[in-house]
Amino acid sequence: KTKGFIFDLDGVIVDTAKYHFLAWKKLANDLGIDFTEEENEQLKGVSRVKSLEKILAWGNKTLSEKDFNAQMAKKNEDYLSHIAKMDESEILPDVPKVLNFLSENNQPISLGSASKNARTILERVNLKEQFNAIVDGNDVTKAKPDPEVFLIAAKLLNVAPENCIVFEDSVAGVEAANVANMISIGIGSKDVLGHAKYVFNNFTEISEEFIEKLINE
Ligand code: G6P
Ligand code: MG
Repeated sequence: KTKGFIFDLDGVIVDTAKYHFLAWKKLANDLGIDFTEEENEQLKGVSRVKSLEKILAWGNKTLSEKDFNAQMAKKNEDYLSHIAKMDESEILPDVPKVLNFLSENNQPISLGSASKNARTILERVNLKEQFNAIVDGNDVTKAKPDPEVFLIAAKLLNVAPENCIVFEDSVAGVEAANVANMISIGIGSKDVLGHAKYVFNNFTEISEEFIEKLINE
């Protein structure tokens, strides 16, 4: 059979959360706001605009529209300086193995990411060619948990939503996949991603038999 396999980027293919953390922490601290790892966790899968809104709310701060936009630009500049140094070594374990197995089995693959930097990152880690379609933060008007990003991916792959499988590490992303009527696979902890149909800590736990089962059911 032919299914559509959709991958989130940050936290699924590469661990960019550490770079988002550095950039957000710098921004927050410059504004006199504390920023912890736990808070960074809550920004996973959350768009850039929404992330800054949350940080300001945590710090009880408001900014004019002009300053808000300036901070957003500064954050991204800082983030880009980190991802500029990325290479293939930052691909998470067994991700290439799974992508190759899907390609060998003629399964279409799409990216479904909230990030506006997704294409840059895929190029840095040399994975862009593995994707039949790329849908990212530049292509959507509604952020996860809205299913828009995954529905566009399904359309580009020409696969019905119920025949799509989504790999996600964020709460909002798993919810978006479920709302889209897709099979959600959480990558991370069961405590956080209990609403996913399946949960694995990482791709090393995903067997070829399991993927074959997804393709054939
Ligand atoms: C992903 C990350 C978020 C990030 C968002 C937007 O969902 O998990 O932490 O805020 O993408 O990324 P961007 O690269 O556009 O700032
Ligand atoms: Mg993610």
